[in-house]
This record gives sequence, C-alpha cells and structure tokens, in this order.
Amino acid sequence: MGESRTPDIVAKGTLFLAATIAFFYCGSRWKWFLQDRFGCAADEKERQRKRTVKTGLVGLIGNTPLVKIKSLSDATGCEILGKAEFLNPGGSVKDRVAVKIIQEALASGALRVGGLITEGSAGSTGVSLAMVAAAYGCECYVALPDDAAIEKAQILEALGARVERVRPVSITHKDHFVNIARRRASEAESRRLNRGKGTDQENESKESRGGFFADQFENLANFRAHYEGTGPEILQQTSGQLDAFVAAAGTGGTIAGVSCFLKEQIPNMKCYLIDPPGSSLFNRVTRGVMYTREEAEGKRLKNPFDTITEGIGINRLTENFKLARLDGAFRGTDREAVEMARYLLRKDGLFMGSSSAMNCVGTVRVARLLGPGHTIVTVLCDSGVRHLSKFHNPGYLAEHGLTPSAKGLEFLEASSEMK
Ligand SMILES: Cc1ncc(COP(=O)(O)O)c(C=O)c1O
Repeated sequence: MGESRTPDIVAKGTLFLAATIAFFYCGSRWKWFLQDRFGCAADEKERQRKRTVKTGLVGLIGNTPLVKIKSLSDATGCEILGKAEFLNPGGSVKDRVAVKIIQEALASGALRVGGLITEGSAGSTGVSLAMVAAAYGCECYVALPDDAAIEKAQILEALGARVERVRPVSITHKDHFVNIARRRASEAESRRLNRGKGTDQENESKESRGGFFADQFENLANFRAHYEGTGPEILQQTSGQLDAFVAAAGTGGTIAGVSCFLKEQIPNMKCYLIDPPGSSLFNRVTRGVMYTREEAEGKRLKNPFDTITEGIGINRLTENFKLARLDGAFRGTDREAVEMARYLLRKDGLFMGSSSAMNCVGTVRVARLLGPGHTIVTVLCDSGVRHLSKFHNPGYLAEHGLTPSAKGLEFLEASSEMK
C-alpha cells in the first residue's frame, strides 16, 4: 500500500502545481487582454480627441481639405484638386504664413509679446497677421495700397489692426506700402530703445515692446510655412499620387515652399507658374530675365500691376520666389480669371477669389499640356467674399470690359504660352 501512495501524492502535487501555474498564467493573460482592449481604446480615444479638438485659433490653421473640382476634372480628363485654403479661419492661405512668421519672430526674440508686428499687404496677409497677432498677445499694423478692395481695410480695422491706406507707388519709392510698414516697425523699435527717456509712465508700457517688420516677401518663414505645412499635407492627401502642381505667385512663398517639398518627395512631378498680366515672373521662369532695363520697377511711369487679380504677380525677384523649383510657366489673362471664377461658381458652387480663379486657369493649361489621366493640384487661396467691390462686382467688370459671358471653357485661350 505504502508503495502505491507515493506516486499518487506526487501525481496530485504535480496536478496542483500545474493548475496553480495555469491559473496565474490565464489570469495575467486575461489582464493583458483587458488592458489591450480597453487601454488601447482609451489611447485611441485620446488621439481622436487631439485630432478633433483644436487648441485656439492657431490650432484651426492649416490641415485644409483637398477638393476635387468636378467640372474641371470632367472637362479635362485629369483629376483637378484644389487645396481649400479659403477654409482657414482668416479666410486665406496667408494664415499659415502669419503663424510661422510670428512664431519664429517670438522664438528668436525679434518680436516680444505685446509688441507691434507690421506689414505692407494688399490684404490677405494683413488680415491673417491681425488675427494671429491677437492670438499671441501682439499688436498689428498694416499699410496697404488705396486701390485694394475697400472691404480688406474694413476687415483689418474690425480685427483691431492699425491701418494706413497709401498711394500705390513703385517699391523703389520710400512711400511704397511695404517701405512704410518697415519704417513703422523701426519707429516702434526706436521707441522701445528710448523708453524711459521722457516717456510718461502710462505710455511707456504700451510703447516699450518694440516692433517687428513681418516682411512676407523676403522673410523665409513664409517659404517654410509651405515647405513644412502645405507641401506635406498635399503629399499625404494624395498619397504621393500627383503629377503636377501649378500656382500663381505674389511673394512666391507658396509656389517655392510647395514645389521644393513635393519635388524632393516625388522627383518626376512637374511644377508650373501661372502668371497674371503685368507680372514679370513668366519671363523670369521661361527666359531667365524679368524685364528690360526700361521696365524695371521704379523706372516705369505707371503702376506695373495692370491686372484685376489681387495678391499675385510681381515685378521683382523676392527671396521666397528665388527658391521655387519650376519646370515652366504660363500666362493667364484677366478675362480668363473672371470667366473661370464665374464657371466655378456656376458648375461647382465654388465662390473663389481672383488668385484662386487664376490658379484654376493654370490647372487647365497644365491638363492640356500633360494630357488626360493626370492628377494636378493647385491652391484655392481665398474665397470671392473678399472681392465683392472689384473682381465680383458686375459694374466694375463692365467698366473694364470684363463682363463674363462664356458657357463652357471656350474662354481659355488655346495659344497658351509655355516654355
Ligand atoms: C489672395 C492671395 N492669393 C495668392 C497669393 C500669392 O501667394 P504667395 O504670396 O505665397 O505667392 C496672395 C499673396 O499675397 C494672396 O493674397
């Protein structure tokens, strides 16, 4: 009997041990399983929350949708996509630039919280700077030409910016709106440096924060806003499946930042400029020269920007534009921009500003060059709401012989110059 009980105890002990191990093992797996299911769900919820709940004004800027423009896609056989920058809170692509300029200036100490940021802007950048400056606790001053649409000055004032409307003169003139804005920043800086010297206590706190000239034309924060923001977003939204990008240029920040980024990622894609009347960039891209000596800014007798479009076209080479990587350029006319704006509204319900319309003219030029089956991206810079007194004013258009009348895309001149 004694002989047979020993293996029995061993067997029972082994069984007990195995059951204990199995119990603890299953318990721990079950805990992992629960953590895995519900812990991950909690993390995912947090991530989802971060994606959907934005922090403040700055959190709302960028990450704009890419919209397929059905009418132009159907008409060309290409996929025509527009980056809907008009959906930024400030209503334009310039929100991104304002954030980047202010963030970099604050980080470098060139701008202090409470300080004055100044800009010479025909409109959109001023509006964006005014809004973003407030979000960062800064003040904003904008000088703009007095031929810019009146609603632009009204919006700026409503946003709390100090506005100066000045006679449009050449950039070489000391009273060009850009030069006036630069001067206002250095005046604010001088007041900061002279604070305490004869300034009374109350004015001192207001005047002692200094000034910073945003300088969107030459400041490469503009380029970086698009190189780090708009370009990567387009790449991600198209999964890298795009053949061409086309846009007009004002400062050149958009076309330079986007073209540099996209060409680095997709080496065989093409980037093109569409240039409005009165601008020399077409010549620069296609012939390497901007103008004859007589045409240089400052030598012309009249204002060289002979176009209804706003914010695009320029007669000097900016630091931002210099960085653009372009394969060619097209010219666009005012009539084409006006007709395109009407076409987009009628066919797609898209109410676009003048530069967006010109950019869409560019997409059709590129589609005709590349042929059907390509994906072409452009920028829908701002909406038509900012353009009610000129570009979308039937009276103004009639006065300039630009009343739209086309039924389809026949208004697009077949002889699109391209090099
Ligand atoms: C409405 C609008 N569209 C387009 C542009 C041109 O963009 P960029 O300055 O990046 O060349 C501007 C520039 O001021 C603008 O205001």
